[in-house]
Amino acid sequence: MKIAVASDHRGVRVKEQILAQLESLGHEALDYGPSTGDSVDYPDYAKSVAQDVSNGTLDRGVLICGTGLGMCIAANKFPGVRAVNCHDDFTAEMGRRHNDANIMCLSADLLGDRLLNRIVEIWMTAEFEGGRHGRRIEKIREIEADCCRDPHDG
Ligand code: RB5
Repeated sequence: MKIAVASDHRGVRVKEQILAQLESLGHEALDYGPSTGDSVDYPDYAKSVAQDVSNGTLDRGVLICGTGLGMCIAANKFPGVRAVNCHDDFTAEMGRRHNDANIMCLSADLLGDRLLNRIVEIWMTAEFEGGRHGRRIEKIREIEADCCRDPHDG
């Protein structure tokens, strides 16, 4: 899979760790920055990954900030993006099985290295179940289409 990883200043070390893990799992892992720990604004990095997931350039993305929350809010503004904030095995697995999440957001401040690696491994291997969950995703698409519709159109 082609998957980008980006962070803000709080997540640079975790970003490197996850890039290495994704490579070792056989994925094409792309570093969307930043490269130093200088203070940056998380929406800029959420945008670069989320727009490439939205336009189909990337299969998936991983976004890391202090809590994972700001990244998740920003990423979910992009059409077709289903970003989830994962903090344990269960949220990683259900984010894939039920929500078909294409972006995972992580907290660099709250999660230890071993847990982070486990969460990533589960998220990369768990599969979307479809069925009734597919119907629910379709309803999210409809909400998105309604919200993005030009009010002057028709
Ligand atoms: C940056 O201090 C912090 O606000 C950011 O990393 C993140 O936690 C935002 O949601």
